[in-house]
Amino acid sequence: MPAKPLTEEQDRERRLAWFRRARFGMFIHWGLYSQLGRHEWVMNRERIPLAEYEQLADTWKPGPWPARKWAKLAKAAGQRYLVMTTKHHEGFCLFNSELTDYNAVKRGPKRDLVAEYVEACHAEGLKVGFYYSLMDWHHPDGAQCKVNEKARRRFVDFIHGQIAELCTNYGKIDIMWYDVSWPLDAAGWESEKMNAMVYKLQPDIIINNRNQLPGDFGTPEEHIVAETRAWEACMTFNGSWGYGPIEPEYRTPRQVLGMLRQVAAGGGNLLLNCGPSPEGIIPSPQPKILKQVGEWLGKYGESIYDATDPMQQEWSFLGAFTRKGDTLYYHVNRWPGQDFSIGGLHCTIESAKIMGGKKLKVVQEKDRVLLKGIPAEAPDPLCTPIELK
Ligand code: GLC
Repeated sequence: MPAKPLTEEQDRERRLAWFRRARFGMFIHWGLYSQLGRHEWVMNRERIPLAEYEQLADTWKPGPWPARKWAKLAKAAGQRYLVMTTKHHEGFCLFNSELTDYNAVKRGPKRDLVAEYVEACHAEGLKVGFYYSLMDWHHPDGAQCKVNEKARRRFVDFIHGQIAELCTNYGKIDIMWYDVSWPLDAAGWESEKMNAMVYKLQPDIIINNRNQLPGDFGTPEEHIVAETRAWEACMTFNGSWGYGPIEPEYRTPRQVLGMLRQVAAGGGNLLLNCGPSPEGIIPSPQPKILKQVGEWLGKYGESIYDATDPMQQEWSFLGAFTRKGDTLYYHVNRWPGQDFSIGGLHCTIESAKIMGGKKLKVVQEKDRVLLKGIPAEAPDPLCTPIELK
């Protein structure tokens, strides 16, 4: 008997299988705006005239093969996929396009930066995502399309044509990550047709929810709130997506681990952004922080990658949980240095140990679980998970 075709829902789960376990990815925002270093919205926020901004297309000279370094760094950080801006709102394409000369092959870089990126991800065994902005400040019909049907027709053909190029010229792509759908609605963008084309060209791909359709996964931005379906929180490292050398503050390794704990507990992913310099260098302190996170994941990854079963938990001062079946992982962020108890666990705890280390004695009094034999110093100063069965 021929196999029964999958239902839409079954096929979505098939395509999402790797993503549901991926947990951690690297977002790369790279474009002409990187040369200015004042956020990727700089053209719009500073009202830079197009003719002036366009000159950045010729002055951009990235260094050799930066994507190889990003992919190696992502791997070391314990990240399992990347998403890179193939075209941001500025309209400049990092890929070769037949549909516009405003692209990296024909202008300054004189190279296909998307091809380099794809090759680099594959070399490290990482999944490949393409960010693509629907909103386009460079295309003459990018705003007109809202009020003029002929302009809309031209613009939508252009956008669909570019998405087709991205889905055709770079081998297997794992994520299509649309962004900003101003100024049209789903009907105006012909979003149903857009997605159908992407699935046809890339049968294993997953698509986000930013072309005004729900797609395969949700994308909460700069906040972490679990959704009831597949989801991914995208977060900046320092408040800017594009290269931001004048931003003084970065999320610390402890904060990144905290975010990972939070997404894991909600069954989601963290897409943490890096904005490389125009040369393509991910500035310090990001590489160092990512490596620290990666080392931590190397030791305690089990409590993050696989521990994504939902559980109700009360807030507590010292830490928070992830869960896999009957195993709980209590991520202790504030090490008390002495025996302590966890309140509000409505289950029997049979054993406890410091992950990768010492067994602890458990005394349970109803929903108060006392842990005894706690060392004075935190076994891991970043965060120590205690495994409870
Ligand atoms: C927003 C911003 C954009 C950024 C994106 C990342 O939509 O407009 O600059 O690329 O979020 O999620």
